[in-house]
Amino acid sequence: MTYSYYKKTFEGETMPFAYLDKDLLDKNIKDIIARSGEKKIRIASKSVRCRWVLQYLLEYSDQIQGIMCFTAREAAWLAGEGLDDLLVAYPSYHPKDIAGIFPALQSGKKIYLMTDLNAHLERLQQVAAEGGITLPICLDMDMTTRFPGIYFGVYRSSVNDLGSAKRFLARLKDCPNLRLGALMGYEAQIAGVGDNVKGKGLMNGIIRTLKRKSIVEIARRRKAIYDLTLEMGFEPEIVNGGGTGSLETTREEECVTEVTVGSGFYASHLFDNYKVFRHRPSAGYAIEIVRRPQKDIYTCLGGGYVASGTYGPDKIPLPHLPEGCTLVKNEMAGEVQTPIIYKGNEDLALGDPIFMRHSKAGELFEHFKEVLIVSEGRVVERIPTYRGEGQCFL
Ligand SMILES: Cc1ncc(COP(=O)(O)O)c(C=O)c1O
Repeated sequence: MTYSYYKKTFEGETMPFAYLDKDLLDKNIKDIIARSGEKKIRIASKSVRCRWVLQYLLEYSDQIQGIMCFTAREAAWLAGEGLDDLLVAYPSYHPKDIAGIFPALQSGKKIYLMTDLNAHLERLQQVAAEGGITLPICLDMDMTTRFPGIYFGVYRSSVNDLGSAKRFLARLKDCPNLRLGALMGYEAQIAGVGDNVKGKGLMNGIIRTLKRKSIVEIARRRKAIYDLTLEMGFEPEIVNGGGTGSLETTREEECVTEVTVGSGFYASHLFDNYKVFRHRPSAGYAIEIVRRPQKDIYTCLGGGYVASGTYGPDKIPLPHLPEGCTLVKNEMAGEVQTPIIYKGNEDLALGDPIFMRHSKAGELFEHFKEVLIVSEGRVVERIPTYRGEGQCFL
C-alpha cells in the first residue's frame, strides 16, 4: 500500500487515529493458516484487543478456534459477549477474579485457568469448592532452555521437567474441584525473539543456533510431560504451544493440538525480524503534521506509543508511510510531538498524515477507542477497541 492510497482513503479524518487494513489482514490470516499446517489456531487476545477482530478471525476459518485471554476478568467479559473456549494464559489468584468466571462456567462456557504452583492449585481448589464448581485448569510447562551462562527463555512456569511435573500432578490429584483440561508451553525464546534483525548479523546467527538447539529440547520436554499426564490418569483435551514466531516448528510436534497466534494478524514491526516469514503491516496509526521547524522536518502532534518490555530502539514506533521517513534520534516518538525527517518526493503539508507502526500488536489499541477499518480504498467501518468498550485489563 502506498502513502497516497492511505492519504486519500482517510481524507477528512481527524488525527491521531488507529486503522486496520482489512485487505492486508485477510492476507495475513491466509498466510498464518498456511504456516500453522494442520493445527488449530487459538487467538492471543492480548495482541488483538478488539472484540470485532476476534469475532472476525473466528468466523474466517474453522481452523481458528478459541481465545487465549490475558486475564480471568477478560474471559468473564468475553464469555458474557458470546465468545467461548477461553484459555486464560497467566495465573489468576484473587478470589474475586477466580469466582468471576463461575457464572460463565455454570452457563456451559469453556474457560481454563492457568497454574504451575501448588499455591495456585490450593487457591483455585478453595474458591472452586466454596462455589460448588468443577474448575478446568491448564498446566503451564516452562519451555526455557538453559545453556551454560545463558537462560534462553522467560521467567514464567516452575514446572520444567518430569520431576516438577510429577509433583504438581500428584498435588492436583488431591484437588477434587479441579480438572486438568489443558497443557500449555510457550516457547517465548523461539516465538518472540527475532532472528533476522537488520544490522545484527552476528547476533542473528547466535540466536538461530540457540533456537535450533532449544527447539529439539522443548519438543522432547513437552511430549514427556504430556505422556506423564496420561500415565497419571489425566486427559487434557488441549495441548497448546507456540506463537506467531514459532509456527513452523511448533506445528511439527505431534502432541500439540493447537498453536497460538496474535501478533501476526496485525504484524507490528517487531515481527519484521524473522527469517522464515514476513506478514503485512495491517494495523497502524496516523499522526498529523502540525509544524515544520526546518525544511526536511515535519513535526506531528502526539505519536509516542512506546512498547513494553526491555527498553531499546526496537520498542519505539516506526514511521511507515511515506517511505523514507525517519525519527529524530534525540527525540524519537514523543508524548506531545514526534518530529519526522523526510526528504522524499511526496509534497507534505501541514494537516497531512504520517502513518506509523507500533512495535507490539495489541498495545497499539490501548491508545485508541476506535479503529477505522479500511478496504479497497474506503473506510468501511468504525469499530471499538477493548478500551473503546470501557475494558482495560492489563
Ligand atoms: C502464553 C503465550 N502464548 C502465545 C503467545 C504468542 O502471541 P503472539 O502471537 O502475539 O506473539 C504469547 C505472547 O506473549 C504468550 O504469552
